Amino acid sequence: MPKERLQKIIARAGITSRRKAEAYITEGRVRVDGKVMSELGAQADLSTQVVEIDGYGRVEPEEGVYILLHKPPHVVCTVSDPERRTTVIDLLQNSRAQGSRNYEGMLPRVYPVGRLDYDTQGAILLTNDGELSQKLLHPRHHVPKVYMAKVQGHPEESELKKLRDGVYVGDPKRPGHGFRTKASGVRVAKRGPNNTWIEITLAEGRNHQVKRMCEAIGHRTSRLIRIEFAGLDVNDLPPGGWRFLTKAEVAALRQW
Ligand code: URA
Repeated sequence: MPKERLQKIIARAGITSRRKAEAYITEGRVRVDGKVMSELGAQADLSTQVVEIDGYGRVEPEEGVYILLHKPPHVVCTVSDPERRTTVIDLLQNSRAQGSRNYEGMLPRVYPVGRLDYDTQGAILLTNDGELSQKLLHPRHHVPKVYMAKVQGHPEESELKKLRDGVYVGDPKRPGHGFRTKASGVRVAKRGPNNTWIEITLAEGRNHQVKRMCEAIGHRTSRLIRIEFAGLDVNDLPPGGWRFLTKAEVAALRQW
């Protein structure tokens, strides 16, 4: 493991922010192999050296953190938003994890695995495990994502078949940059007087894919909920609620 600056090591271990870690260092509270390091440029290699903080103890290497969040609508799937809208990270910071009332630690930096649109609700994973995240997003692994789309009107069976078999979707922002969707699972879940809820299972995840697919068969999407991602559902989480994945769930994700 290469050497890294102490403040980075401390922040990444989820102990405190980088700025506060810098204060710990300049206050002389941080030791490497027993020696106080009060210079901000000081580095260490956590795999071969012992880093300790007064009042905290030994800094352990960062552990994988895996979170399932029920994203409500009107929340952005980014770490920070220039428009200052609520982000998925804000939701983690402003509420406690379900079933983990005693979790007192600061969360290490986590990132959403892929994105849901601002107005889309549903299951989103967040992790600091970049390798697993990339794996889950790679089209080669066909990780299933299940959506409920409320579309205007009543799609005909022939239109639903188009969705199932693959349909060409255009890119309104880049004419000529459309693509043909792969085969998808499609079934009607509920018909209302003026609209239809369709369950769509995708093994790929292109930008605004569900909305674009429904648009391609002539039906605008008025609501979109991702009910499942990689076999994980948010049935037990209220919108805005989140929980840590169990070890078994993380192991199952690695199998994809
Ligand atoms: N497809 C969409 O159109 N939007 C999402 O948020 C996810 C999938």
